[in-house]
Amino acid sequence: MANVKFYAGETFPLEMHKVRIIQKLNLIPVDERGKAIAGAGNNTFLLNNRDVFMDMLTDSGVNAMSDRQLASMMAADDSYAGSETFTRLDKSVKHFFGCKYFLPAHQGRACENILSQTFVKPGYVVPMNYHFTTAKALITVNGGTVEELIIDEGLKIRSDCPFKGDIDIGRLKEVIKKYGEDKVAYVRMEAGTNLVGGQPFSLSNYEEVSKICRAAKIPLVLDASLLADNLYFNKRREERCKKMTLHEIVLKFADLSDIIYFSARKLGFARGGGICTNDHAIFLRLRELVPLFEGFLTYGGMSVREMEAIAVGLDETLDEDMISQGPIFIDYMVKELDKRGIPVITPPGGLGCHVDAKAFLEHIPQDQYPAGALGSAYFIASGIRGMERGTLSEQRDPDGKEHFSNMELLRLALPRRVFTLSQVNYAIDRLVWLYENRRLVEGLRFVEEPRILRFFFGRLEPVSGWQSKLIAKFKKDFGDSL
Ligand code: F0G
Repeated sequence: MANVKFYAGETFPLEMHKVRIIQKLNLIPVDERGKAIAGAGNNTFLLNNRDVFMDMLTDSGVNAMSDRQLASMMAADDSYAGSETFTRLDKSVKHFFGCKYFLPAHQGRACENILSQTFVKPGYVVPMNYHFTTAKALITVNGGTVEELIIDEGLKIRSDCPFKGDIDIGRLKEVIKKYGEDKVAYVRMEAGTNLVGGQPFSLSNYEEVSKICRAAKIPLVLDASLLADNLYFNKRREERCKKMTLHEIVLKFADLSDIIYFSARKLGFARGGGICTNDHAIFLRLRELVPLFEGFLTYGGMSVREMEAIAVGLDETLDEDMISQGPIFIDYMVKELDKRGIPVITPPGGLGCHVDAKAFLEHIPQDQYPAGALGSAYFIASGIRGMERGTLSEQRDPDGKEHFSNMELLRLALPRRVFTLSQVNYAIDRLVWLYENRRLVEGLRFVEEPRILRFFFGRLEPVSGWQSKLIAKFKKDFGDSL
């Protein structure tokens, strides 16, 4: 991906790849979109893909693969134990992270499960820059608590801080002191901090965290699922990284970590996951759980085809042209929305464009899930599905009280290399229309609320008949157009 200056003077994102396989999409009429979202309990996770035009739910496992990845999948060697494919993946992961040991797992949360079961006990704490839903759920299920120590700037919607994912070093020291070093299971740093808008942390911040952890003998765990975006921003925004190659930056991060895990549904543009370490004792402890939960040590729940694709995908992650497409499209989308007054997280991060539903729908109280309501309304307006990243994605407190999220976001993920710029322009246009008509949108309430990870399969209904009013206004403004 490149930003190229056009003759008229403006700069536009220009794809440094061509599309050679396509998938037909449907954009169903607005009435049908209304029926589809009602049928899905106003939860975009429960929509059927055939009713969705642009699937901006996530970038997890839905990034476009390269020709080299597809070709490698054809030459996979299948075997329960000791496949040539695993040997290739093992070599690729160890080269990428410069690590001694690698354990395969079927996806990111499987790694989180293994780490939590190994290190977290009742009364233990896991300090982190910010939680991710599955990471937190797996820590709390094992009796631990999470302390989120992201810098204050990280929780501001609008900012020009280049590294909003940094951890507050002072607060990290305080938390370690408060709980005692032996009660800190590990410190977790999440690259491309997902829930605050795909915001990166700096290498310098990570260096400080590592120093503190090493002095206190606390393992430092890097969640590298969104490392590709983080790397791009290190290279672009951090002075000392400008002179380093992408691989040098990865190796530096790895050097500072005790354990690295990743979802290969993101890192490596395929599907799978794994854990890396240089510490033999840690490796032995974690290894026990792989055959128990994942599969034998040479596949860990992954198919051989996916393993081949990850091996190549990691290699391509070290090519700036390959990893810049997401951040450059997101930058374009965020800036275009910002120009039109639509509240979005700034500076633009990785993963996707994050709309601030608290400001967009300021008339909806948090206990009526403004980000969920925005996701439902946006699907009606556009056929695009985003993901609620707000109070709905939180778990209730142990006493059953609603735990209000710091931010109420509608995340519009940009799976890498999947959409074109005209599709992104459509996504912007329909959001602008919705913003003009935001007063028509009201809240949601649960009709079915699961106890754990409720956002995945909970069902909700509108608190009033607002959706038919929105549909009527859409038809008035757009006539017969989809
Ligand atoms: N860590 C981060 C930072 C993630 O973004 C995810 C997944 C995981 C861990 C868990 O990995 O899905 O392979 O089990 N994020 C997806 C998303 C689900 O849509 O943002 P997984």
